[in-house]
Amino acid sequence: MAVKEDGIKKLATGIVGLDDMLYGGIPVGNQMLIAGDAGTGKTLMSFETLYRNANVNVPSTFITFEEGRRQLLENVKEAFSFFTDIDDLVEKQLINVSEQEVTSAFRSKENWQAFIVSINRMLKANNSQILVVDSLTPLRPLQEDDRTFTRAINAMVSNFRNLGITTIMTVETSSDNKDSGYGLYGTFMFDGIVKLSTYNMEGSFQYLVTVVKMRRSNHRNSSMPFEITSKGLNVFR
Ligand SMILES: Nc1ncnc2c1ncn2[C@@H]1O[C@H](COP(=O)(O)OP(=O)(O)OP(=O)(O)O)[C@@H](O)[C@H]1O
Ligand SMILES: [Mg+2]
Repeated sequence: MAVKEDGIKKLATGIVGLDDMLYGGIPVGNQMLIAGDAGTGKTLMSFETLYRNANVNVPSTFITFEEGRRQLLENVKEAFSFFTDIDDLVEKQLINVSEQEVTSAFRSKENWQAFIVSINRMLKANNSQILVVDSLTPLRPLQEDDRTFTRAINAMVSNFRNLGITTIMTVETSSDNKDSGYGLYGTFMFDGIVKLSTYNMEGSFQYLVTVVKMRRSNHRNSSMPFEITSKGLNVFR
């Protein structure tokens, strides 16, 4: 959903409360990271963004490295049981789900580059305005160290930036090492970082979202609690 705030073009996520935190949405063309521990809502938050945009005819691509296409769709349909038109939107190619194998072939620079080019082709064919890559984490063991992993991710991010596509990449953090940098040698390549976390409040699970940075845009700095409902995410205001 294109909106204009602070004089710049933004893409609304359509998620209740999240666009308020982002003062309208994600600046168009930003390369964004959603980081969080296992089960903190990375997949659902990124999928809902595509879903909300598909509902206003903005086409997108969801690349899944973590689970198969079927499994992903089953899971989001189950989690968001009120979104009864997901299959419809997939059918109409407003949401294009592409399952990608994590292969040791990616260790070669040439093959990695070829993979990036194949994604570009897919994005063009689908006329995608938003791309989700879920997640970067299984790619990390393919590379020898943080430096080579960073170089590979940076090449991919630079490419998406040149394409002008708005991208949401997810990465898993581990609760015992919050500052591990996600296996990356830094996060300079991302224009925006959103952190998801959970904490235990009086015995019940509470989800929390924090906008850590968002280039070219203002954003709210405080962490906000959110809930995951069958009608989508609800970030409290
Ligand atoms: N099918 C479902 N039905 C009900 N609740 C679900 C369903 N799928 C996920 N959830 C809830 O939403 C939370 C977030 O799920 P999500 O898959 O988005 O997390 P994630 O951060 O992507 O996790 P992972 O690191 O495992 O990929 C889960 O912890 C779970 O409580
Ligand atoms: Mg996930």
